[in-house]
Amino acid sequence: MFSKWWWRKRVGFEDITTRVTPECHFWVHWGASHCQTRAQTRGEWQLLCVPGGQPPLWKFMDSIGSEGLQQGEEALSCPEEGLPRPSDSSELVQDCLQQFKVTVAQLQQIQASLLGSMEQALRGQASPVPAVRMLPTYVGSTPHGTEQGDFVVLELGATGASLRVLWVTLTGIEGHRVEPRSQEFVIPQDVMLGAGQQLFDFAARCLSEFLDAQPVSKQGLQLGFSFSFPCHQTGLDRSTLISWTKGFRCSGVEGQDVVQLLRDAIQRQGAYNIDVVAVVNDTVGTLMGCELGARPCEVGLVVDTGTNVCYMEEARHVAVLDEDRGRVCVSVEWGSFSDDGALGPVLTTFDHTLDHESLNPGAQRFEKMIGGLYLGELVRLVLAHLTRRGVLFRGCPSPALLSQGSILLEHVAEMEDPSAGAARVHTILQDLGLSPEASDVELVQRVCATVCTRAAQLCAAALAAVLSRLQHSREQQTLQVAVATGGRVCERHPRFCSILQGTVMLLAPECDVSFIPSADGGGRGVAMVTAVAARLAAHRRLLEETLAPFRLNHDQLAAVQAQMREAMAKGLRGEASSLRMLPTYVRATPDGSERGDFLALDLGGTNFRVLLVRVTTCVQITSQIYSIPESVAQGSGQQLFDHIVDCIVDFQQKQGLSGQSLPLGFTFSFPCRQLGLDQGILLNWTKGFNASDCEGQDVVSLLREAITRRQAVELNVVAIVNDTVGTMMSCGYEDPRCEIGLIVGTGTNACYMEELRNVAGVPGDSGHMCINMEWGAFGDDGSLDTLSTCFDASVDQASINPGKQRFEKMISGMYLGEIVRHILLHLTSLGVLFRGQQTQRLQTRDIFKTKFLSEIESDSLALRQVRAILEDLGLPLTSDDTLMVLEVCQAVSQRAAQLCGAGVAAVVEKIRENRGLEELAVSVGVDGTLYKLHPHFSSLVAATVRELAPRCAVTFLQSEDGSGKGAALVTAVACRLAQSTRV
Ligand code: G6P
Ligand code: BGC
Ligand code: BGC
Repeated sequence: MFSKWWWRKRVGFEDITTRVTPECHFWVHWGASHCQTRAQTRGEWQLLCVPGGQPPLWKFMDSIGSEGLQQGEEALSCPEEGLPRPSDSSELVQDCLQQFKVTVAQLQQIQASLLGSMEQALRGQASPVPAVRMLPTYVGSTPHGTEQGDFVVLELGATGASLRVLWVTLTGIEGHRVEPRSQEFVIPQDVMLGAGQQLFDFAARCLSEFLDAQPVSKQGLQLGFSFSFPCHQTGLDRSTLISWTKGFRCSGVEGQDVVQLLRDAIQRQGAYNIDVVAVVNDTVGTLMGCELGARPCEVGLVVDTGTNVCYMEEARHVAVLDEDRGRVCVSVEWGSFSDDGALGPVLTTFDHTLDHESLNPGAQRFEKMIGGLYLGELVRLVLAHLTRRGVLFRGCPSPALLSQGSILLEHVAEMEDPSAGAARVHTILQDLGLSPEASDVELVQRVCATVCTRAAQLCAAALAAVLSRLQHSREQQTLQVAVATGGRVCERHPRFCSILQGTVMLLAPECDVSFIPSADGGGRGVAMVTAVAARLAAHRRLLEETLAPFRLNHDQLAAVQAQMREAMAKGLRGEASSLRMLPTYVRATPDGSERGDFLALDLGGTNFRVLLVRVTTCVQITSQIYSIPESVAQGSGQQLFDHIVDCIVDFQQKQGLSGQSLPLGFTFSFPCRQLGLDQGILLNWTKGFNASDCEGQDVVSLLREAITRRQAVELNVVAIVNDTVGTMMSCGYEDPRCEIGLIVGTGTNACYMEELRNVAGVPGDSGHMCINMEWGAFGDDGSLDTLSTCFDASVDQASINPGKQRFEKMISGMYLGEIVRHILLHLTSLGVLFRGQQTQRLQTRDIFKTKFLSEIESDSLALRQVRAILEDLGLPLTSDDTLMVLEVCQAVSQRAAQLCGAGVAAVVEKIRENRGLEELAVSVGVDGTLYKLHPHFSSLVAATVRELAPRCAVTFLQSEDGSGKGAALVTAVACRLAQSTRV
């Protein structure tokens, strides 16, 4: 083989020497002309250099092993003799075109391999690096059709060496379209290959030139940027270019945020104040421009100079997003798909040649078999090959036929179009400097058809992979979906789409797919995304404004803590205070020596329970839940207490206790001024109870009177306790440090062991007494009005005790659902939710149960389950709506938990200061459905207590047996004390 040195001196071409490898191209300029040749993987080309200035000779061994010599210049000349016999040429043609034949098995393998790569990339697998990128686009919802406004759209990269500026007006009225105004600008080659700044300045100039011709203001323009290259998006308006494709290779752009580059260029241009609101891939624009139809458009396919697809993927499947709710549009970037196993067998020598000659050898291999930028080149390489073999144009190639890029997509589309007719093909070939015969025309059309058929089939195999992915993602056996198609190959190529559709049906038979051509190449779609982005941004601003009052900061919570401390002090002193600080006559927590059988009643929570509590070395409980119909809870007091006694009697009968007069402890979860352990004057009803003739009465007397009314029943009512006290006692039985009782259920309240000396109105200075704070009423004096929102006011106004229990109405289970419902009504009226459609259901009181908050906010619940809950409420919602409803629930429950935490912080700090301790370790017995079932409530309460009472180590003990056990223990303590005083 010739030494490197000789070459260099002989022909004096720098780059040739460095690229001498078996696979290299050789360029030799010989006088005016040049010829090119190369070594093929399936053949060897050797340059035989003849000393003394003779044109070089080429020796080659092609794939079918025949050898031949060719003189450089002679390559352009027509062979005089030795054209192949007709039989040879059809074999030659067969051999050549056979390479483009792709079997169903090969297509299925490509489908499977691409699906595998897609799922690897979705999982965020790093190695082996997946063959496709699967780039999230931050477009989370398909358009509502309500988008409206005027938008500027800049399209760069979709159609190769041109960019387009559009003015798109969205009317927001379904089916009412305003034709976009647009202008196309050809991008000079040197700009496509020059400095990035030059390209963006060119784009900004085109923008101004276009807008100068439009009757538009220079201010407040919103622009959607369609940038058709692989990008890492980190937001709807932040996108970093990964690598150029399709004939672009500007410097200083890869790795940069292209939105910022455009903003900078527009700034430099300085003509217009344009807000670049969104950047999208052209496939996303195509998807979003899809007319609303019978079935959702969930896939956007583009085959133009390049090719790519996007589709709506479940966000939880996109590992990089760490989102487990909603859907997100993912740009597959299948142009880079290159799995040797699957693609190797279908890659032809012409594909390799094309790749070697491309701007980005080795990259975008799949795109180079399908994209419009390459179809023409593939056809050209095949025609050049067949011409050199004398099969076409009598073996006489034209310079154009040997020039890269001389056959364009348009040529191929026309030459293949049966309606174009042979005459048109003739003209095109003549324009390429060829003199075709009829047989040439027919063979050229065949080559075009072969190349394009393969392209459509490969595209179909890839699309079938995406459809299979959608099925997996939606866990559906069959799939009904619409695919929006865009790009000049789809639009202009006569048979591409029909082959595509036919092959998809073959490869994905369980998918019922409709193809919807994009009306205007995605411009509307980009405007839609921009409108969606602008709308989402506007909605987000309105949502944030609405929820801002619920986001309490440290100072606000510390203020609540301080106000509560003040109200506690006043209440203990018997002064006017929204906190009544009611003495409960419970002076001690159980010491474990209690024994006996006790009956207990538990009224005031979600359920009314009758319990038999057996206290030995441990506590055994038998209980039964009875309902308190609203008519009884809001009927007459007599009716209510007769109902209670009926339940007791029923329970005694079932437990074989009839006729026994066991000591009874009565958990009565309403504010009572206790005059003794077994005397409690009901101050006012709360939580939806409103039985008449009870307020101001001794509840124990009302119970005893009902027992009396029911002959033959004997009950010994020993104690009446509040559910907070029962809960404290019940937990105190296990943990003696438990000195606080907290209920966050239907209502909310707390009690704690106060120093007796601090309790006005109860004789004695030593020892402790449990104080029922009735903190539900905190703020009834207006001290919480600064935190109260219009939604709280609506809930309060609609309650049966307006102006009362203000703290409870911001925290407890009976009200949180209603607060959420009122916020949803408000956001709907602003058009932020449910497309502004107010539904009858949502206007129904108590339709949004507080338990929905616990369900909706649970981490384990996928968005679709959240959606199911809301759809059961008859709410027409999108994934954006669902995400916003979730945020509303989170804001309301977070405020409730923080306020509750501020209350507990006030209590533990009071106890710590009572005892003059630096540090306090104390336990809180807790009960209540909201606290127990809400996924984050308890941890938010604990976090707020840690923040506001850092010197208190607070342990929260969830009560297992409810306060009925506590009532029995209070009764047992009372009996023990009574016993000890009797002996
Ligand atoms: C438990 C207690 C009741 C208390 C209730 C509060 O069930 O035993 O005494 O009233 O919790 O929670 P709830 O969510 O039922 O209102
Ligand atoms: C780009 C894609 C684009 C496609 C169609 C490809 O070269 O990488 O981002 O969607 O062409 O324009
Ligand atoms: C009542 C309290 C009770 C709390 C929890 C409030 O509505 O006023 O007495 O402890 O609900 O059930």
